[in-house]
Amino acid sequence: MVQRTLAILKPDCVRKNLIGKVIKKFEDENFKIIAMKLVKLNSKTAGEFYAVHKDKPFYYDLLSFMSSGPCVPIVLEKENAIEEFRKVIGATDPAKADDGTIRKLYADSKEQNIVHGSDAPETANYEIQYFFSMKELVENDDKN
Ligand code: CMP
Repeated sequence: MVQRTLAILKPDCVRKNLIGKVIKKFEDENFKIIAMKLVKLNSKTAGEFYAVHKDKPFYYDLLSFMSSGPCVPIVLEKENAIEEFRKVIGATDPAKADDGTIRKLYADSKEQNIVHGSDAPETANYEIQYFFSMKELVENDDKN
């Protein structure tokens, strides 16, 4: 089933000038870009986005990190995109991520882990709609 997932290139990715390298990995793995923008979150918007984590001990640190600089939300489309994308980015903790994954290659810590990926279809829908309106989602007419 063709699915959509939400990726975010986090503030550490932008600060380290890794936007191009990380997007290249998405393209190399045949994810199609459906929508993309540069945004700066604040603690309120980061809190809304990460509301599912509001009871976690790392929640306020996560909000402060996610609002520390611009980030790049991207909607990606592919067969089984949610699971496939999580394979490409690797485990939350870069020390536990498989070789070749984006977090293994570029991330410094569990918090500053370069990239976010939706973890289930319901969260993907919420997260995509959080950043993008329907008219910003471009039809993927690639027949490959
Ligand atoms: P992400 O995929 O964006 O979803 C929630 C984020 O919380 C996660 O990536 C990490 O950046 C962060 N996170 C998850 N677990 C921890 C942890 N134990 N300590 C600090 N940050 C965490």
